[in-house]
Amino acid sequence: MVYQARVVLAVVALAIPVASQGADANSGERSGKQVVEAKCIACHGTGAHGAPKIGDRKAWAKRSSQGLSSLTEHAIKGIREMPPHGGSPDLSDLEIGRAVTYMVNQSGGKWIEPRSKTKPAVERSGEQVVRARCVKCHEAGTGGAPKIGDKSAWAPRMSQGLDATVRSAINGHGGMPARGGMPDLTDSELRSAITYMFSKGAAPAK
Ligand code: HEC
Ligand code: HEC
Repeated sequence: MVYQARVVLAVVALAIPVASQGADANSGERSGKQVVEAKCIACHGTGAHGAPKIGDRKAWAKRSSQGLSSLTEHAIKGIREMPPHGGSPDLSDLEIGRAVTYMVNQSGGKWIEPRSKTKPAVERSGEQVVRARCVKCHEAGTGGAPKIGDKSAWAPRMSQGLDATVRSAINGHGGMPARGGMPDLTDSELRSAITYMFSKGAAPAK
């Protein structure tokens, strides 16, 4: 986690134009990750002013026990040394909620990022998700990723049941990024994608 936080900081230092990439580029809403890397990491990356540090499970577990709506309200209004809106008045309440969720999840939590109510929730199929993203590693088995359709590689990973595998993919581990690197992927889309990769009869032709 500490290592991850450093990577995040390094990425931020490269000043990627955050607003243009990822999740909700269409609606102009940023994902939790984008907001945190642009606006919150200054304090929550280092623990400046006593901010709970991203990745500090203990610090976040205590705070997250009050629930997402209360935490988000504090982040919107400010609390003690925490400035209202994290000092960024341009953030929508939804974006702040996502940022809070992202920090909690980077610190051992398992929350679902709130989704836009204005955006029609068109669920992507497992195949669409896999084609759009997961093939990057799961087609060739990059970094030891279980290959699509390789039942013997998937079986041991599925031995705890699909729910446990979904949870593991939400959090990510080793070479597997959290949510396969798609922050806007819903749990149910992730589940379809995993089912697709597991049950597909044969590995796709190169
Ligand atoms: C200028 C530094 C600073 C920035 C920038 C900042 N925070 Fe904070 N944050 C703090 C500090 C300090 C605390 C601890 C406040 C306390 O409990 O005394 C905190 C606490 C929090 C908490 C816990 C609130 C609670 O009820 O325990 C949340 C949630 C939070 N910040 C979210 C955010 C989000 C989201 C952003 C980015 C949009 C952000 N912060 C940006 C300094 C900052
Ligand atoms: C950047 C490469 C990469 C991408 C992209 C990626 N994965 Fe993975 N994935 C891995 C690697 C590597 C592993 C093996 C990690 C390990 O065992 O530590 C893995 C493991 C998994 C596992 C097994 C988890 C477990 O507990 O054993 C699941 C499920 C999974 N990936 C789902 C997905 C889904 C769904 C997507 C697309 C949304 C995706 N992955 C995208 C690299 C990737």
